[in-house]
Amino acid sequence: MKVSVIGCGYLGAVHAASMAELGHEVIGVDTDSHRISELAAHRAPFYEPQLPEILASAGAKGRLRFSTDIADAGGARVHFLAVGTPQKAGGYAADLTFVDAAVESLIPHLAPGDLVVGKSTVPVGTAARLAARVAEGCPGAMLAWNPEFLREGFAVKDTITPDRIVYGLPSDPDHAATAKALLDEIYATAIARDTPVVVTDYQTAELVKVAANAFLATKISFINAMAEIAEVVDADITQLADAIGYDSRIGRKFLNAGVGFGGGCLPKDIRAFTARAEELGRGESVSFLKEVDAINLRRRQRVVDLVIEMLGGKIYQRKVAVLGLSFKPESDDTRDSPALDVAVQLKGRGADVVAVDPKAVPNSMRKHPQLAYTEDLETALSGAHAVVLVTEWAQYRQLDPEWAARLVRRPLIIDGRNCLDPAAWRAAGWTYRGMGRS
Ligand code: UGA
Repeated sequence: MKVSVIGCGYLGAVHAASMAELGHEVIGVDTDSHRISELAAHRAPFYEPQLPEILASAGAKGRLRFSTDIADAGGARVHFLAVGTPQKAGGYAADLTFVDAAVESLIPHLAPGDLVVGKSTVPVGTAARLAARVAEGCPGAMLAWNPEFLREGFAVKDTITPDRIVYGLPSDPDHAATAKALLDEIYATAIARDTPVVVTDYQTAELVKVAANAFLATKISFINAMAEIAEVVDADITQLADAIGYDSRIGRKFLNAGVGFGGGCLPKDIRAFTARAEELGRGESVSFLKEVDAINLRRRQRVVDLVIEMLGGKIYQRKVAVLGLSFKPESDDTRDSPALDVAVQLKGRGADVVAVDPKAVPNSMRKHPQLAYTEDLETALSGAHAVVLVTEWAQYRQLDPEWAARLVRRPLIIDGRNCLDPAAWRAAGWTYRGMGRS
């Protein structure tokens, strides 16, 4: 199948390369010429495991091209919309500027029978509006909504072997049948593996996506709310999570208490969902998401407070080593990153912050040049008055407490991800504090 992918960020670049890997002929389009020149040379413009390998293999087979010119999308039968829907400046709603611009620029290059497939996360009602615009701009062209559930760090795996596929199809039965047949061909490999396919309407498909992210965010904030209580009564949140997680109705995944969630999706998606529900007159139905957001942001503050408390209130000009900057391991993404936020807040309180991360230093430096950065753990730890672990990269989880104790000035550690063994760290002479752990 000849396909185009409009927007080549974290979602689109992975989607384009994965579609080519699955055997389709792909043209990726983006307005960012630097990103396109990197991708055209089959280099990944950001860190994502397996992406360099599939860019190289699909590129070598001649199935993957990139362009800054939307006209190059012409001739493809299926056009994926994978542009960003960031939070609006000064509000909670999603900014649809990029989605609208992508559709408008694509319309002159569509042919009757073409299928536009929305993958971006949008407020419910967007697909119907865009479908009308596509039908008006190119009679005979159609639109489907096919939300994406990939996780950064596992994006290639999640795209090639998804755990489910959702098709939001047009209401016209003929268009729906054509769109479904095209999507079935696109996802033939996953369908042959018995991946569940949910066939539904636009609005359900749009809601599935935001509901999934709202649920995940709620699960994390639930355990972080329990951590707040555990801190008061000296209970242990990790044992609590294990114990409730053994109940298969609850499950242990996404019950890791810590500095909370960040990234380009969960925080802005729950805010956009709240804003959309208010527009629909159902603000109260998801008003709990405001609390989910508030709990989440309090955890960042809690880490900062713990550092100040452990330093006896004297943080000014104390060297604090911040381990991690990306919003999660195996990513260089610092959008709404709790780790970067903690580093910035500590710096704002007067600490001499030295932040270390294996992949996210360049992105962090662009946003916050006022911080001192290194990619070398030893440099970060040397002479530190306190250490704060905020992104659980494997190399930080596996840190040898005895080796680290020899480098720092004072052996104080705040484990913002509850990923270290407190007994081992205490045995090596450290004062250890976790999140919701006695
Ligand atoms: C999330 C969803 O998991 C994907 O299914 C979805 O496709 C994606 O958003 C999206 O909308 O594009 P992602 O943002 O890559 O994926 O990251 P997650 O793995 O969900 O982690 C989000 C944040 O939650 C991270 O900061 C992580 O550290 C934090 N987290 C996760 C916790 O604090 N505790 C946990 O137990 C799990």
